[in-house]
Amino acid sequence: MAEAVKNKSSQRRSSVGLRTLAVDIGGTGTKVEVLDQQGKALTERIRVPTPPGATPHKMVRLIGKMAAQAGRFDRVSVGFPGVVKNGMVYTAANLGKGWNCVKLDKLLTEKLGKPVRVANDADVQGLGAISGSGVELAITLGTGFGSVVFVDGHRIHMELAHAPFHKGKTYEQELGIKALRKKGKRKWNKLLREAIDDLSQTFNYDRLYIGGGNARHINFELPATVKVVSNEEGLLGGIKLWEVTEPSTGGITARKRAKPIVKKTQPAVKDQIVQSGSITVH
Ligand code: BGC
Repeated sequence: MAEAVKNKSSQRRSSVGLRTLAVDIGGTGTKVEVLDQQGKALTERIRVPTPPGATPHKMVRLIGKMAAQAGRFDRVSVGFPGVVKNGMVYTAANLGKGWNCVKLDKLLTEKLGKPVRVANDADVQGLGAISGSGVELAITLGTGFGSVVFVDGHRIHMELAHAPFHKGKTYEQELGIKALRKKGKRKWNKLLREAIDDLSQTFNYDRLYIGGGNARHINFELPATVKVVSNEEGLLGGIKLWEVTEPSTGGITARKRAKPIVKKTQPAVKDQIVQSGSITVH
């Protein structure tokens, strides 16, 4: 009898396979949960508010505490809200200071004693959602505005968040959480519809995936090529992160990012044309 029980429990363990601690660092909340090898959640999701002015030190400490509550895991996948290359963080627009050139994978490996992979949060969501063929764009609607494009499964991280979109404002300024709260759902949906149109014309994507907590506020019918990513699909990204190779740096070693040359947000090209009144009709 004891043997039968033992067999059953070892069978269960082998079907679960490697246990991955999926960490999603957000501008507002940080979430962790343990996934099985198929990306199914094995534990309840733990969510803790991201500390205001979150520095690398504060975040590593917080994740250490959350991981201790999450139970057993063999490896860690982290979705980070900023530019990340080969585990090195360069920007974090919605967190605190001190993130330029931080080797977050190394810091977390030291803290958690397990192998850690870190990628941009939208990249992780996208990895979980894509089919791997054609041009696929993924955006996330949360505190910030995440974006990534995949061409036949090859990933190019995008920072559309801080690119001009509408009346001199960026995608994030118009579609991030602050805009949603300030403008209300109706205006936010109108702008989102416009953004989807713009992105479709710019990228000519075959599919667009929309993730992030605020995707639930979408109240219009999406075109057939656009799909809202479910929580389950999003989770899968934490597993896929271990199956893909990082885009190479082309032999260029990490360097601190210089401050932007142009500080002020430039109006989108179409707005510049309208403002200068220089429309040329062919
Ligand atoms: C960051 C992106 C991130 C997005 C969503 C933006 O402010 O620049 O890298 O993916 O927020 O968190």
